[in-house]
Amino acid sequence: MAAVVEIENLTKDYEVGFWRKRRVRALDGLSLKVESGEIFGFLGANGAGKTTTMKLLMRLIYPTEGSARILGRDISDVQMHARIGYLTENPYFYDYLTAREFLEYCAELFGYDRRERKRRTEELLERVHLDRKSWDKQLRKFSKGMLQRVGIAQSIVNDPEIVFLDEPMSGLDPIGRREVRDLIASLRSTGTTVFLCSHILSDIEVLCDRVAILKRGRLVEQGRLETLRAKAGDEQRIEITVAGADAEAIEQHLNTLSGASVTTTASGARIEVADERDVDKAIAALRSAGGRLVSVQPVRQSLEELFMREAGNE
Ligand SMILES: Nc1ncnc2c1ncn2[C@@H]1O[C@H](COP(=O)(O)OP(=O)(O)O)[C@@H](O)[C@H]1O
Ligand SMILES: [Mg+2]
Repeated sequence: MAAVVEIENLTKDYEVGFWRKRRVRALDGLSLKVESGEIFGFLGANGAGKTTTMKLLMRLIYPTEGSARILGRDISDVQMHARIGYLTENPYFYDYLTAREFLEYCAELFGYDRRERKRRTEELLERVHLDRKSWDKQLRKFSKGMLQRVGIAQSIVNDPEIVFLDEPMSGLDPIGRREVRDLIASLRSTGTTVFLCSHILSDIEVLCDRVAILKRGRLVEQGRLETLRAKAGDEQRIEITVAGADAEAIEQHLNTLSGASVTTTASGARIEVADERDVDKAIAALRSAGGRLVSVQPVRQSLEELFMREAGNE
């Protein structure tokens, strides 16, 4: 797979204070690659440097050190920028434009003619599931969730090969989050690569193929979610809850199963096995012991724990 984004040693110092004498390193030697077709999660607590990275890639600010390429072109390449999409954190919209007018305006910026602007706008409004009744309403009357959908529509108006989304779920209620999440998943299914910034782990966890974790401007982890979990010492175990039989009774029928542990609980027992293939044997054992199966559940360390350890503020 080709890398769509290649970041090398990207570093940004902000000059702060009245005389701009003090320097704050917001990003410190970031290197990473985003592959074609994936949803890449860029995760970190507030102030970690995610937005700074996005702004550097979008050429809104300039790096102190390092370089980056998008679609094989240096980030200073203006033509490349016409092939990518971007949704800023806390986007600002022109309140008095309607959704349709706003998107037609965005399409105009990309140089599409009148007919094409109209066609694209309607296609996008449908694609982001904005209710037809709202197409000609002013954006100031929109809820945060509706605005975010318009924002995403705006970011894909030019059919970008990659879209950069900075905290697209922030400020949304659970239903809004789900909708935006589904929308992002649908982008991938149409072949668009997604670079997704978030400080909210659960959003990243369900969507992303690979993640990078940023902490105070530094990359602390990068890789596939499964790999990161494994690295964090996440041994998946499966917990089987039993009623009507205690540990002692079950153990008599479990003799051949290695790596299983059984403990007596108030209403029965809990069996833990390390391998999914042992679940059947455990169930057979609890039945032979006269027990009843209550539940079978994988227990895994969530990325949350890894994240808290890596990205938390200690
Ligand atoms: N324009 C700026 N001037 C000075 N410091 C800034 C500026 N923008 C961001 N910072 C600082 O850089 C760090 C990273 O910020 P940011 O990239 O916005 O983080 P994130 O998006 O991960 O929350 C923070 O410490 C923030 O205060
Ligand atoms: Mg940010």
